Amino acid sequence: MTSTPDPSGQSSAPRHGVFLIGFMGSGKTSIGLVVSRMLGWRFEDLDVRIQHRENRTIAQIFSNFGESTFRRIERQALLELLQEMQSSPMVVALGGGTAVQADNLDVLQRSGFPVAFLDATVDELWRRCLPFAGDRPLAKDENQFRQLYEKRHGIYMKAGTRIDTGGKFPEVVASELIARLQLTNAQGEVKSS
Ligand code: S3P
Repeated sequence: MTSTPDPSGQSSAPRHGVFLIGFMGSGKTSIGLVVSRMLGWRFEDLDVRIQHRENRTIAQIFSNFGESTFRRIERQALLELLQEMQSSPMVVALGGGTAVQADNLDVLQRSGFPVAFLDATVDELWRRCLPFAGDRPLAKDENQFRQLYEKRHGIYMKAGTRIDTGGKFPEVVASELIARLQLTNAQGEVKSS
């Protein structure tokens, strides 16, 4: 499929898929599920896919094999998903670190699918992650969490579209995302959330 670059750095076509990026706790999964329901597109969560593929939790992969192995598996799973997106409309929630690894963001942008950066204040992100700290190896220490957010923010910002999720319900953010990226299904319809 060919695509035409536009001034935002993203491509004008195709539009039958979208990538959600952002820090841990930014709502990629909860918002992605609503977007997929509204458009009737398939939903894929990269972390869930990795866990099925490896038959281990993300925390186990980190503790048994280390982060660099996790990143290799993540990259492979991302490339597989990209392949599948060519034939199946899809909303893809990436892991918090996916877009900041090596040239992953470049791969996403060259794919022609829009990339949306979901953001909130680091205070809110930390609060949202607290109940699930055991599931997230990189959300165990508040200072490290804050430093990592600062370090990554500039890379996330390279996505053409930043959406503030602070204090908003997933349905509200999903509608905003669909409107801003002008996403529609094959029939040109969007269901209400
Ligand atoms: C990570 C975020 C996690 C998961 C892994 C690493 C990160 O995904 O991929 O723990 O590097 O920020 P979520 O953003 O869905 O929590």
